[in-house]
Amino acid sequence: MGRVHVLDHPLIQHKLSLVRDKETGAKEFRELVEEISLLMAYEVTRDLPLKEVEIETPVGKARTKVIFGKKLGIIPILRAGLGMVDGMLKLIPAAKVGHIGLYRDPETLEPVGYYCKLPPDVEERELIVIDPMLATGGSASAALNFIKQKGARSIKFVCLIAAPEGIERLRRDHEDVDIFVAAIDKCLNEHGYIVPGLGDAGDRLFGTK
Ligand code: URA
Repeated sequence: MGRVHVLDHPLIQHKLSLVRDKETGAKEFRELVEEISLLMAYEVTRDLPLKEVEIETPVGKARTKVIFGKKLGIIPILRAGLGMVDGMLKLIPAAKVGHIGLYRDPETLEPVGYYCKLPPDVEERELIVIDPMLATGGSASAALNFIKQKGARSIKFVCLIAAPEGIERLRRDHEDVDIFVAAIDKCLNEHGYIVPGLGDAGDRLFGTK
């Protein structure tokens, strides 16, 4: 089973309260989502392997550590995932960015992929798939399927707020994927929104409500 990491750092929790507030406007909402994503990137990359190197400081030789091993890839799920990209890139600027877009078929209600552009060496990268809201888990699970079909072997999923249903679905469908979340909320309402959540993340990011 993939592990669930609830990132309860005080700065993350404080900023999450501000993004939840319905009085927070699009500009501040975007800035806060970026800041939370940066703080989450810090925790998500905690297990990156290090190797020792020898460097010379102005004062003398030193054996120090640098990141070593697989390169990283960030994959936002369109469209709300875009709001988390810049924050993540601030901490891991060398990461390549892929994109995946899905829509829900109105007849079958199943998610259908309409766009998937990933780094060419996706199978060699540690991938961080991002979407602010994990609701039913249907789209996230389908996105992970698409990415795996393209060869991805190492994936982490990062979201701001999850519903228990989404966590359960993702853990069931993708046992190999660890989930990083700032908060797990109560439930979904009849419209598929997370309660209490923050509303529609895409609309609040892009001011389309
Ligand atoms: N997507 C959102 O943007 N908000 C929710 O509450 C659920 C899915």
